[in-house]
Amino acid sequence: MDGKVFIELLNRDVDESELETISFDDLLKMNIAPGHLFFIPRKAKMPPICLLKGGGYIDKEWIVKYTNKGLRSFFCFVIKDDKKIKDGSALLKKLRISKNEEEAYLARNEFINWVKVFLWDGNDDISFLDLSLICMSVFFDLDEKVVTQIMDKSLVIYDRAQRVSALGVIVALILGYTDFDFLKDVYHACFLLDYGLCDDTIPFKVIEALEVERIKPGTGRDHLVASRASQSEIDLFLNHPKNGFEKVLVTCESKFKYPEVVKLILRHHENGMGTGFPLELLHDDLSEWETIPMFVDHLVSYAETLSKKGDARGFLKDQIDELKANTALDYLPCKRVFSRIEKEMCSNKSFELVTRVTNEDGILNIEPIGTEVEAEEEKAVGE
Ligand SMILES: [Fe+2]
Repeated sequence: MDGKVFIELLNRDVDESELETISFDDLLKMNIAPGHLFFIPRKAKMPPICLLKGGGYIDKEWIVKYTNKGLRSFFCFVIKDDKKIKDGSALLKKLRISKNEEEAYLARNEFINWVKVFLWDGNDDISFLDLSLICMSVFFDLDEKVVTQIMDKSLVIYDRAQRVSALGVIVALILGYTDFDFLKDVYHACFLLDYGLCDDTIPFKVIEALEVERIKPGTGRDHLVASRASQSEIDLFLNHPKNGFEKVLVTCESKFKYPEVVKLILRHHENGMGTGFPLELLHDDLSEWETIPMFVDHLVSYAETLSKKGDARGFLKDQIDELKANTALDYLPCKRVFSRIEKEMCSNKSFELVTRVTNEDGILNIEPIGTEVEAEEEKAVGE
């Protein structure tokens, strides 16, 4: 390729230096597209063709299809930042290898301090693709067929799954959850929140209702009725938490150490006001950790988005500022989550400690084991 080429997806001329050639061998090692992948026809005047957007899952059959056409590489408009992915993953891996609660606490603080610079302070660029790849490299353990099923049925649901799962685990860490297996379960549950929609192509009206429900919980069903959706569309919308929960029990429950975490999928459209679905739960029916998926699900739009460098810079603070300015939180049982995130992110002190997760006789038990003050005192004693 010579000089510049207009790339419609990016709506601008792209210089040769902005594109990298990535071999199929390297792509297969990555699994996830590190940026937007293009084929650029040799014939002049033929525009570049985007074959996979950044963050898309690269399955082997897809690569074989292009290998059979004589191709060996694609052009890539790279989005991911290798250094950030390496740094963030290394910090989370410290959590994985921590031998006791104190080590886990320190590892968690180190990661939160690191991610706060980008996601809250907005002092440097970070992309959702970076965050997704960091969390995926540490927590992801689902079968390829689950991921490809989601991506085949809806790119919007697939993109959201990556973002919501990364945000879910980051919010859980901010809130003080340090048990690696518990965090991994939360990550997978958040990835699979809308798995129950992915048996077939998802009607546009259902995606539209999900966005309406996201913005104002409790209103999606009425929106479907008002837009004259069919009964099967209404059923798909209302049944997807239960359908997803049951599908996970059948296909990948073994991936969860704490089976109770799978229930997050069943409950992710509850709102504590009795107008959620399918269980119409009230605030008292929901523990704090169960509201994490509700909170992060609310943060990520169903509008089709294009991954960009720096698209997560300051995201968490911007979202919380926006939530404070409107009444959306009145419809969500997340006020405690919301205020604790703000407190932790605005504090210069040691982050508030923390919770212990135990699983005795199959019952998930989460208990606070310390406070910010105690953490300071422990530090002082250590010195
Ligand atoms: Fe959902």
